[in-house]
Amino acid sequence: MLKTTTLCAVSLLALAAGLTQARAQETVTVYCSILEEQCRDGAALFEKATGVKVQMIRRSTGETYAQIKAESANPKGDVWWGGPGDAHLQAAEEGLTAEYKSPALAGLRDWATRHAEQSKFRTAGTYLGVLGFGVSEAVLKQRNLPEPKCWADLLDPKFKDEIQIADPASSGTAYTALATIVQLMGEDKGYAYLKGLHKNISQYTKSGIAPIKAISIGESAVGIGFLHDIVTQKLAGAPVKAIAPCEGTGYETGSVSLIKGARNEANGKKFYDWTLGVEAQTINMRLKIFSIPSNPKVVAPPEAPDFAAVKLIDYDTGKYGSSTERTRLLRKFEAEVKSLPR
Ligand code: G6P
Repeated sequence: MLKTTTLCAVSLLALAAGLTQARAQETVTVYCSILEEQCRDGAALFEKATGVKVQMIRRSTGETYAQIKAESANPKGDVWWGGPGDAHLQAAEEGLTAEYKSPALAGLRDWATRHAEQSKFRTAGTYLGVLGFGVSEAVLKQRNLPEPKCWADLLDPKFKDEIQIADPASSGTAYTALATIVQLMGEDKGYAYLKGLHKNISQYTKSGIAPIKAISIGESAVGIGFLHDIVTQKLAGAPVKAIAPCEGTGYETGSVSLIKGARNEANGKKFYDWTLGVEAQTINMRLKIFSIPSNPKVVAPPEAPDFAAVKLIDYDTGKYGSSTERTRLLRKFEAEVKSLPR
């Protein structure tokens, strides 16, 4: 009798240990290309909602694309959350991300589901962000610089060493800017513009947010980036102004993709579904990052910028997110613009 009880206790213990182990294995690795603070909040909320442990790695969009490609024979990430859609579409075309028809897709805004269809369901839209530039009103005043209103104004030699933009190879924001200029002006005029702009660039940063942080602390007069990121800094009290360029501008379709061959595919799908839901998309609202959510149940507050007044181009993600075009434009930028002396 005693023997049987002991045996039972031992097997119960073994079972409990097994369960704990199984639970400990419930993880998901997320490559995150939005802001550090959004990634951190996302990890905490998802863990709380599901009990699945999140390993979050923040890297810019182009860098994450390159990492997923480098790891494709032995994928280490499960989901790629955030960053402009072009690189997500390139990853989709190259078969680096997996087809997944999330049940959450049905409840999204049209542009987000269209984005999913365009990728043959290898990515989905999570937010829209409008490109532009921000100025530090303090620096403009201090250096007696005019307020730029158009892309063309940024070529004024008065802005020499006063402008920052990220490197389009590492940053999705800067690639959106490169593709926008080409679409607005045509390729030849667009690259001529970028060469002119290059003379005024003080620094090509790695991440898209860096130029915006630089204007908010008065380290640069102008920063090219997403308007919603500039508004966030303004609402936090920085003396900055967001400017939608007079000629018109482009935009990003912030995206989420499931990495092909994901080790934790089931949890990856869970996380993917979650990013399209209300809880995940409310993070931005709380942090006052007013990109436009793809879930219509998340409503921006009145202090969010009104993008309806911005002159937008019909951004061709199909073309600029294609593998050949994105690769070609980035190489050309490196060879014909970035390598020029300033
Ligand atoms: C910020 C913006 C996002 C954008 C992302 C891209 O997080 O709020 O709208 O998608 O930057 O980052 P990257 O460093 O790749 O330019």
